[in-house]
Amino acid sequence: MRTSIFSAVTAAGLAFSGFSQAAGIDEWKGRSVYQVMIDRFARTDGSTSAACEMSLFCGGSWKGLMNKLDYIQDMGFTAVQISPIVKNIDDHTAVGDAYHGYWSVDNYKLNDKFGTEQEFKDLVAEMHKRDLFLMVDVVVNNMVQKFDNVVPPKVDYSKFNPFNDKKYFHPYCNVTDWEDPKNYQNCWLYPYGVVLADLDTDSPAVADELGSWVNGLVSNYLIDGIRIDAAKHVNDDFLPGFVKSSGVFAWGEVLTGVTKDMCRYQTLGLLPGMPNYLEYYPLNEAFNGGSFEKLDKAKSDARSGCNDTFALGSFLENHDMPRFANSNDDMALAQNAMTYILLNDGIPTVYQGQEQHFKGNGTPFNREPLWQSNYDQQAPLYVLTSTLNKVRNNAIKLDTSYLESKAETLRADTNHFCMKKGPYGSQVVFCITNKSSKGDKYQLPMKGFQPSEEVVEVLTCKSSAADGTGTITMYMDKGAPKVYVPTAALKGTGICEKTSEDGPDSAAASLGAARGLAALIAVGCAALLI
Ligand SMILES: *[C@@H]1O[C@H](CO)[C@@H](O)[C@H](O)[C@H]1NC(C)=O
Ligand SMILES: *[C@@H]1O[C@H](CO)[C@@H](O)[C@H](O)[C@H]1NC(C)=O
Ligand SMILES: *[C@@H]1O[C@H](CO)[C@@H](O)[C@H](O)[C@H]1NC(C)=O
Repeated sequence: MRTSIFSAVTAAGLAFSGFSQAAGIDEWKGRSVYQVMIDRFARTDGSTSAACEMSLFCGGSWKGLMNKLDYIQDMGFTAVQISPIVKNIDDHTAVGDAYHGYWSVDNYKLNDKFGTEQEFKDLVAEMHKRDLFLMVDVVVNNMVQKFDNVVPPKVDYSKFNPFNDKKYFHPYCNVTDWEDPKNYQNCWLYPYGVVLADLDTDSPAVADELGSWVNGLVSNYLIDGIRIDAAKHVNDDFLPGFVKSSGVFAWGEVLTGVTKDMCRYQTLGLLPGMPNYLEYYPLNEAFNGGSFEKLDKAKSDARSGCNDTFALGSFLENHDMPRFANSNDDMALAQNAMTYILLNDGIPTVYQGQEQHFKGNGTPFNREPLWQSNYDQQAPLYVLTSTLNKVRNNAIKLDTSYLESKAETLRADTNHFCMKKGPYGSQVVFCITNKSSKGDKYQLPMKGFQPSEEVVEVLTCKSSAADGTGTITMYMDKGAPKVYVPTAALKGTGICEKTSEDGPDSAAASLGAARGLAALIAVGCAALLI
């Protein structure tokens, strides 16, 4: 039904429909990723009832996800990242059950808690039919067993497949020094509740086996990309070969806010991409008493330190961090923060529940079942995400150079961060603010347009025109973000088909306009995606 939004502009456009073929870095840069935790996204029968225990299984499945792909696609996403898919331990432990999929015990069996092999294949086929890329999380740092609290841990290696012998693992030591790579790469993470028996990825036998495993996994199931869990905790030399064996784009989890520690993975050619933790921290700070100057600095540092910031995942939430709204649940702040990650350089990545303004704290409370929201497609952040993904998809379609044009800072001060991204004609000019919904009413001039260019603010569908110097007036109110696109660029997209004139007193009408847009989007984004 839906055809590729990129097929018109990409020579290899056909590769996007039907079967995926080894999606590489360039294909991924044009995508927007929705992160799903399978156990918490949707149940097979679609039931939304019953509270579930946050550290136990809640019943989500691959089939449940397949049945709810409209929810993701109507939000404008073009890729889905899912929990690991291989068999995990069945034990109940002091830190709960393996509902998240990270406690591998058998790499060659699929996780029957999430469904059958046929159901998984059906999910992938349905995703590809819809031109959605699939990214699968993979665990290579360790195999897992229940921990009986005796040190050194007693591990029954014969239970692991294929690493069924002690010789495939580093000798036991507990990670104690988070600054010393030798320590945090060779020792065992978190011996509590479970032991994460640390694979000796330095050894050719282990590295070769993991390479051949991932190669088979990707080709058997037509996976388009992988996320490498705990990439920072395996030895450097292992990574390039593993990524190459996968044959697809890879993100590696490198949890650090230090530019040189993260960027070295790109400059040394160890990983093509990583979730962008360099901006994650200052972005959060800016909305929690900090300022945007630090974020602007982090951004330029990342550009000079890393080889390719367009391959970084731009994110605000994931399954490991407290939700954004956990520290401040003001809706305007969340709208601003999400505007930033959806329009920033890099590949936008939204973690399920973020669009529903979930508020959970650290693990496992940040893993709320999505069905608690009744999959509300009118929720303010759902509507915002939908609009902005479509704005971005449209800008890419108009001019693929949008993707690798650096977002240019127009203003970075204590309360505002404004940027222009993309060449004239398909540029997006946006301003975020940390004033919150209690923010005052004021006017702010903003450059970034051609003289007399007609523009639309897409979150309120207000139209205006730039003056002779290419400057527009932004009517700021209640801390709302502002996103402007040339009127000409919106033709035929379904975005803001009806507009009204912008002005100092037009803010009150904005909610109505946003609702109208929501209704339009709920129709299934048909206009844009067909
Ligand atoms: C492992 O080290 C951490 C400190 O990094 C410590 O809190 C924990 O108790 C240690 N666990 C064991 C089993 O030695
Ligand atoms: C990254 O950029 C640096 C500096 O331009 C270059 O020396 C290095 O080869 C690049 N690395 C990769 C993997 O492209
Ligand atoms: C916004 O930034 C200013 C300046 O750094 C700061 O004083 C204020 O607390 C921030 N607002 C929020 C909601 O964090």
